[in-house]
Parts: sequence; structure tokens; C-alpha cells
Amino acid sequence: MATNFHSNSQSSDISTPITRIAKPNSEFYSIFSEQEVLGIINALEVRREIPLKYSYKGRGAKIWDNFYLKYIIPKWYRTASVEIDFLSNNFEYINGNIQNCEKVNIIDVGSGNSYPVKKFIYRLHQLQKINKYIALDISEELLNVSRKNFSKWFPLIEYKSQTIDIENSCIPQDLLNGKNNTANIILHLGVTIGNHHHRNRVLKNFRDSMKKNDFLVFTNETGSNSKWDGSVRGGCKYHAEEIYGWIKNKIGIRSEDCELVRKYDLETDSVVANLKLHHNYTINFCSQRINKNLEIFKGEEITIWRHHKYEIPELLQEIEQAGLKLVHYSTDKYLSRIIVICEIADN
Ligand SMILES: C[S@@+](CC[C@H](N)C(=O)[O-])C[C@H]1O[C@@H](n2cnc3c(N)ncnc32)[C@H](O)[C@@H]1O
Repeated sequence: MATNFHSNSQSSDISTPITRIAKPNSEFYSIFSEQEVLGIINALEVRREIPLKYSYKGRGAKIWDNFYLKYIIPKWYRTASVEIDFLSNNFEYINGNIQNCEKVNIIDVGSGNSYPVKKFIYRLHQLQKINKYIALDISEELLNVSRKNFSKWFPLIEYKSQTIDIENSCIPQDLLNGKNNTANIILHLGVTIGNHHHRNRVLKNFRDSMKKNDFLVFTNETGSNSKWDGSVRGGCKYHAEEIYGWIKNKIGIRSEDCELVRKYDLETDSVVANLKLHHNYTINFCSQRINKNLEIFKGEEITIWRHHKYEIPELLQEIEQAGLKLVHYSTDKYLSRIIVICEIADN
């Protein structure tokens, strides 16, 4: 068995197991498919990470929705949302460049609760440009929130949704249909591109889902990750804090055995939030077809949240490598956020 006991002679320690066993609870196995559990095990084993994308599932959906409603959506004392402003300020560009197309499908990849697109859709709808809105997300629970919101706001617009992991697959082609003269506007908002482990795969999957006249529109933070000043704000503070609590509980790690640390991670050139263990643990994954013990030692850290800011040359390089072409971008007044619009590259 994985449970061992201290061999040193200090009497106060004598009953303390060297390794504690954590057993993910039954809810864990109901939230994640077998493939996703294997994805989590693999990421833990290879790079000590529970990819952030999995933390939007189950109760993670509520965590995100609450975080969004509390900290991001405009309020009387905070009138602007960067994402909503970006879509507003770039509306003329996008609308102006889809003039040859009669209608557009809006494909919102990583739609969350769909709030950021509300005003944008409203304006396009007024121009009778929308064929349908398609929400795609890894989290079925967030798609439920999105559906509820969207059908309340726009009962007359066709709404479709599907779960997808954009790191691992393209957008299903059957969702992108419409009359010949229908273009697709693919949105990837909320600085989500900077959270992925395989950003290049995500961009390539977008590229392979697109045809001529389609647009990919995404947002991210810009700047140098390594110059992070250590101040913990926004998602890095509130979202990471909530996810930390949730993960401890789901996996079965005692609160007194770990802490949450944020730092700059050189290997991924990202700011990360890590769960640092103060005790040796064996995580026992056990479901119908999985039985795996994973040893994680005292002092080791598990990344549970991460964000990579882009420097502009690097952004251009990643876009180009994916077979995309930058056609337009704009930044916020602090030059800390960017909205990027791409088409498929000519070749
Ligand atoms: C940071 S939130 C942004 C939500 C929304 N776009 C916004 O701007 O408020 C990231 C969203 O992307 C989804 N997501 C993260 N990784 C994903 C992946 N690999 N495939 C599909 N959806 C993903 C999450 O479930 C979540 O809804």
C-alpha cells in the first residue's frame, strides 16, 4: 500500500504518515469523462498541471459565471468592460469587411456565459446580418448558462451549442453551414488564448476550421510576462483562488497540507497560480477503467491557473505559423490588452 510511516524517532511524528492518500471524490468522476481524467493524469504526471480548461466544468462553471458577474461586467461604478469595448470599437471594421456576405454565423469558442457578445450580436442583428449564433465550450454547464442568457436576450436568433475542446479538435463543419453567401466570425474572447497550454494547436485548429471570408477574432493581454510586478489582480487573484478551493476539495488534498502561490514561470513564460504541497501525497485515481497512483512530493507545485501575455512579434509569429494572416488589431489605452482579427493566409 502507498501509506508509509515516518521512521525517525521523534515521538510527536510517529503516527504521521509520510505519504497521504488523496482520492478524487465521486463527483470528480461524474464531471470528467474518462478521456478527460486521463488528460488530467497525463498533465499532472508530465508537467505537474491540472489544465485550467478543466476547471470550468461542474461547479467550475458557477465559479466562472460568479467571477464574471462580480468583477468583469460593467456596473454603475465600473462602466467599461475591455472585451465589450473592443467589440464595439471594432464593429465598423468587422461589419465593413463582411459586406460581400449576406449573413454571418457567429461562432463563440469558449463562450462562457455569452455576456461579452451581447451588444455585438444586438448590433449585427439590427442590421439583419445574423444567420445563427453558435456557442462552443469545453464546459457543458457554461453552455447551459449561455443558452439561458442568449435565448432570453435574442429569442428570434437561432442558437446552437456543442461541447468541444478546441485544443484537441476543429470546429465541427456541420455547425458552420449556411447559404453560400454566409461568412463565419469565430470569436475567442476573454484572453482565453493566453490560458492554453497548446496555443499553437488552438490557432491551427481555428485555421483548419476557416475558409476564405471568415474571420477569427481573439483578445489577449500584451506585454512581457517576466516583468510581472507580483501584484495579484483579476483572474489571477479571484478566479485562481476559487479554483484552488474547488480543486483541493475534488482531489481530496487537505487545506493544511497546501498553499496557493502565484509566480512567474520561466518554462512557460507565463504567470501561474500553483497549488504547493506541504506534504507528500499519493493521488489515487480510481474509476471503472482507471487505476493510477500518482506520487507528488512535499514542496512540489501543481499549476492550476496560468496566463501568457503576448509580445507583438511573438503574436505575429504564432499567427503566421498557424497559417493565419493578421488583418487588423487594436489595443486598449494602457497598451495592455489587444484584440486581433485574422483571416486565413493566402497560401
Ligand atoms: C476566460 S473564460 C472566457 C469566457 C468568455 N469568452 C468571456 O470572454 O467572458 C474561458 C472560456 O473558455 C472555455 N474554454 C477553456 N478552454 C477551452 C478549450 N480548450 N476548449 C473549449 N473551451 C474552452 C471555458 O470553459 C470558458 O468558458
